[in-house]
Amino acid sequence: MDMNSRLENISAEQMAPVCRIVIPKSCCLVIFGASGDLTRRKLIPAIYRLFRQRLLPRGFFVLGVARSEMDSDRFRALMSEGLREAFPEECDETCWRDFSSRLHYRAINYHDAASYRTALGEVLPTLEKAADSGGNRIFYLATPPGVYGDIIGTLHQSGLASQANSHVKLVVEKPFGHDLASSRELNATLLDAFRESQVYRIDHYLAKETVQNILMFRFANSLFEPLWNRRYIDHVQITAAETIGIERRAGYYEQAGVLRDMFQNHMFQLLSLTALEPPSLFSADRVRDEKAKVLHSIRPFPLERLEECVVTGQYAGSAAAGIKGYQDESGVAVDSGVPTYAALKVWIDNWRWNGVPFYLRSGKRLKRRTTEIAIHFRPVPHMMFSQTMGGRIEANTLILRVQPDEGIHLEIQAKNPGSRMCLMPVSLDFLYPREVSLSAYERVLLDCMEGDQMLFVREDGVDLSWSLLTPLIQALEDRAASGVLFPYEAGSDGPAAAAALLERDGRCWRPL
Ligand code: BG6
Repeated sequence: MDMNSRLENISAEQMAPVCRIVIPKSCCLVIFGASGDLTRRKLIPAIYRLFRQRLLPRGFFVLGVARSEMDSDRFRALMSEGLREAFPEECDETCWRDFSSRLHYRAINYHDAASYRTALGEVLPTLEKAADSGGNRIFYLATPPGVYGDIIGTLHQSGLASQANSHVKLVVEKPFGHDLASSRELNATLLDAFRESQVYRIDHYLAKETVQNILMFRFANSLFEPLWNRRYIDHVQITAAETIGIERRAGYYEQAGVLRDMFQNHMFQLLSLTALEPPSLFSADRVRDEKAKVLHSIRPFPLERLEECVVTGQYAGSAAAGIKGYQDESGVAVDSGVPTYAALKVWIDNWRWNGVPFYLRSGKRLKRRTTEIAIHFRPVPHMMFSQTMGGRIEANTLILRVQPDEGIHLEIQAKNPGSRMCLMPVSLDFLYPREVSLSAYERVLLDCMEGDQMLFVREDGVDLSWSLLTPLIQALEDRAASGVLFPYEAGSDGPAAAAALLERDGRCWRPL
């Protein structure tokens, strides 16, 4: 072997990613709500893509169940249309034919045990035998949340919640409850029928590549963790800005608003991953223990002085952009007081984060679509350049960009090249190549098949975040009734009052 090829070999080895590869066990996926939008637009396209990448087990099939009467051929045709709309470039006829032979459908009455006995109790074993799926079952609730309780209860009564010698899992979509009381009720129903280890509560943000990377980045490098505390960090900003409005979901959104829709789940999950202590092991329960500790440490919001910690807003129309205001959207009350934007100041009362505010903001119809976590470090303690350069030196910022263009950016100061002594901000960038990442739904489906609960929310996680937010939402809803909600123009940065929330602390939001 000559020197060059030896060096190539060494560097190829060093570059190889350190991976954990698990082949999921054979199983079937039973989708409740199979005639709905979520199944057509997200679930089946995600499963098809996994199939195409040969990531599904050999003995795998889908049984869709819903109220609509149709046969399996009609179901396949509907799913094929959904796939063409979602990924027009990925429809390979041969692959689809092979895949769609694994799709089956039965009509079901969600409230009637007899209907479960026919659609599931009788049909499933036959399909399982043909597919050789080993009796392992995943029930996926993609229905409106109003029927979750009935489905879970009937699965339980019909003896379908467990199987000797095979696994049975239940996947629950958001929203998980409407407030603390309803989420507790749902958790009680769930845990009456299933064990926590069988339950997979989805938060699709946890499956995004950069979100998963937060733990790797923090705990697989020795560089950042020593700085990850109140000594070096001034504050943290977490942003989830969307350009879209409520689309065709007025019925749901009028009941939810941005705090239930984005904060109770996604924003609090991003916050807890950013702030948690190092878990002793990279395992689902150890990580979820640490996330729960963060939520436990969040200081309750001062309900008597809401203006200190929260700003809410609602988008108004933009004539220039031809965009309707929230109250003009079809299905929205003309005098709706539902917030489509919120900014929160959160304090974590523990040793690591004492005195470091976390500012969270999320809204619809904003200027740009961007989700990121920005860690703002403290400025240098002594300005040795003040005589030569004057001006303020921008403190370092580390940006974990969740979307679009997933990656990590470290903004530092460097000398501007040339004869003059001046500093310029430069960015050290790491960008994920697009083609390597699995979509959020592909990731969660695969993890559920593998039995890895890391990316799913545990009972205490849901409970804690509702405990924090329910009193705040209640106080805001009372306040909205008396007419305090800041309007903002569609396509803008959000309400001016949100900027003031930071300005009062001598800080400002990162531009969208
Ligand atoms: C969902 C919310 O959970 O997340 C939607 O219900 C929101 O209102 C969506 O638009 C945002 O997800 P993503 O992946 O597009 O950032």
